[in-house]
Amino acid sequence: MDPAGRVVLVTGASSGIGWCTARAFARRGSTVVGVARRADRLEALLRECRDTAPASEVIAGDLGDRAFAERVVAETVERHGRLDVLVNNAALSKHKHVLHVSPEEAEAVVRVNFLACVFTTLAALPHMLRQGGGEIVNVSSFSARVVPPREAVYAASKAALSAFTEGLWHDLAGTGIHAGLVIPGPIDTEIWSKLEEPPAYRGRKYPAERVSDAILEVVEKHRFEITVPRRSPPLVAASLLRRLLPALLRRAMRRMDPVPRELIEAARARERSSRT
Ligand SMILES: NC(=O)c1ccc[n+]([C@@H]2O[C@H](COP(=O)([O-])OP(=O)(O)OC[C@H]3O[C@@H](n4cnc5c(N)ncnc54)[C@H](OP(=O)(O)O)[C@@H]3O)[C@@H](O)[C@H]2O)c1
Repeated sequence: MDPAGRVVLVTGASSGIGWCTARAFARRGSTVVGVARRADRLEALLRECRDTAPASEVIAGDLGDRAFAERVVAETVERHGRLDVLVNNAALSKHKHVLHVSPEEAEAVVRVNFLACVFTTLAALPHMLRQGGGEIVNVSSFSARVVPPREAVYAASKAALSAFTEGLWHDLAGTGIHAGLVIPGPIDTEIWSKLEEPPAYRGRKYPAERVSDAILEVVEKHRFEITVPRRSPPLVAASLLRRLLPALLRRAMRRMDPVPRELIEAARARERSSRT
């Protein structure tokens, strides 16, 4: 699919990968609709996009709310007459030991990172069917494949998104609608500054433009899955270990960020005091 003249909805467009993706589509002549909660950041994005894509616009709101997730699709179609590409990119980071995660936090992560993508997709499918085709690109995470310590909920939300995308790819055969998956490794965005507990990872982080290039490639060449960075030795080695020696990989991951004894003792003390 050539992005020129297409209508593209990008969630999580107020920063990082979503921002770069919205800007990349606008530069290719797509009309972009950017979605996120921070209206001021979206306005700044809009100023950039409108240079090359004057009909672009933004919608501010919380994708954790099903009605809002469905509304952004409906409004896009209402205002622009169609929806050609849906990029489900918005996500909440949750790098937090599972003994510190509340049920409310877990629910918010699953709502934004997984359910919102299901809701936007289900809302987009009837329009794409009527048009005779479309592209759905879901931004998952390498942590869905190799789960780092302190990311049980985040990784689970991304694993659900990866499985959903594979299911879409099967079920949409013959419809003209293509579903693809982009799997970022460590990417240099503000998501790292939002982590609630320090990450053990100290390695290289790659520019967000690498991911937006991959998203464009999924759309243009109908790729199913692209990992970013491609052919990075640590990611390739981790994927191979996952397949061939999963117990060894789990032990290595656990050693990367061992659970401090004090963390367990503090959690036990909290539980004991909450019972008295
Ligand atoms: N950076 C990495 O290393 C990395 C690695 C693997 C996967 N990823 C994935 O890549 C995608 C983009 O992340 P990023 O690195 O670009 O991080 P980011 O800069 O933090 O972007 C996250 C985006 O999601 C939006 N968002 C979060 N909660 C939202 C909500 N409830 N409603 C609407 N929008 C919401 C944020 O905007 P507002 O705060 O304005 O709402 C922001 O625009 C995510 O799916 C992330 O899981 C990133």
